[in-house]
Amino acid sequence: MIKHEVFEKNSIILLGGIVVTVAIGGLVEIVPLFTIGETIEQVEGVRPYSPLELQGRNIYIREGCYLCHSQQVRPFRDEIERYGPYSLAAESIYDHPFQWGSKRTGPDLARVGGKYSNDWHVAHMINPRAVVPESIMPSYAHLAARELRMPDIAEHLKALSIVGVPYNDEMIENARTDFLAQATPDADTEGVLARYPKAVIGDFDGNPASVTEMDALIAYLQVLGRMVDFTTYRPDYAGAVEAGAQ
Ligand code: HEC
Repeated sequence: MIKHEVFEKNSIILLGGIVVTVAIGGLVEIVPLFTIGETIEQVEGVRPYSPLELQGRNIYIREGCYLCHSQQVRPFRDEIERYGPYSLAAESIYDHPFQWGSKRTGPDLARVGGKYSNDWHVAHMINPRAVVPESIMPSYAHLAARELRMPDIAEHLKALSIVGVPYNDEMIENARTDFLAQATPDADTEGVLARYPKAVIGDFDGNPASVTEMDALIAYLQVLGRMVDFTTYRPDYAGAVEAGAQ
């Protein structure tokens, strides 16, 4: 006897079957999300992006950098030796959407912050072949000529705070000032540094006359992978592993 005949001949029973099947599938997908708070370990140093870094990140997405670059050092020896400590889930906790990527035409960028000087990045963005002769990366020289416009940066922070990024009222209020101060070394940068520790301050593109998209993109690249101090970082499970080894 064909057992599914009863489903096929009675639409109400079929409907019930569909509901049960979809409910099981839904539970399997949804239930693990209730424990997500415990799954992602909180790590000291991880903070929301400063307004300038955030805008740099938007430019990174707009320009499609993720099509050639991943931002995830996998926990394999060859990757760790090449790029540095493997990526922690907490490091992309404030990324909406995350930039882990799936394609590496160029190298992984999760730990590129601090690897090169701002000048190197400018030269590389303007003409990659000027610093890496065999490079196939396209030129992004236009970014240096485009003034950074972001009249609604405060709203941008506010929107992210709705989805759980901990931008407080002070950060939202000062968004515009922080945005410009980070790219203007002569400005009062105390506030931006207090609100966003380890933010790199600089006239990134070497053009003090204006804040350009190049400034924002480099501010973003320079903070990648730098928020957590790996000289002192100890994963939550380390104690358990050590205890087990004894
Ligand atoms: C067509 C693929 C491609 C695209 C798109 C691309 N890149 Fe690259 N990128 C590469 C390749 C290949 C390299 C390695 C050679 C070199 O350093 O230029 C590289 C290298 C880099 C490096 C140096 C990394 C290191 O550790 O040496 C940085 C930084 C970088 N790219 C940033 C960017 C940014 C930012 C964008 C978007 C604005 C971008 N790339 C878009 C292919 C690409």
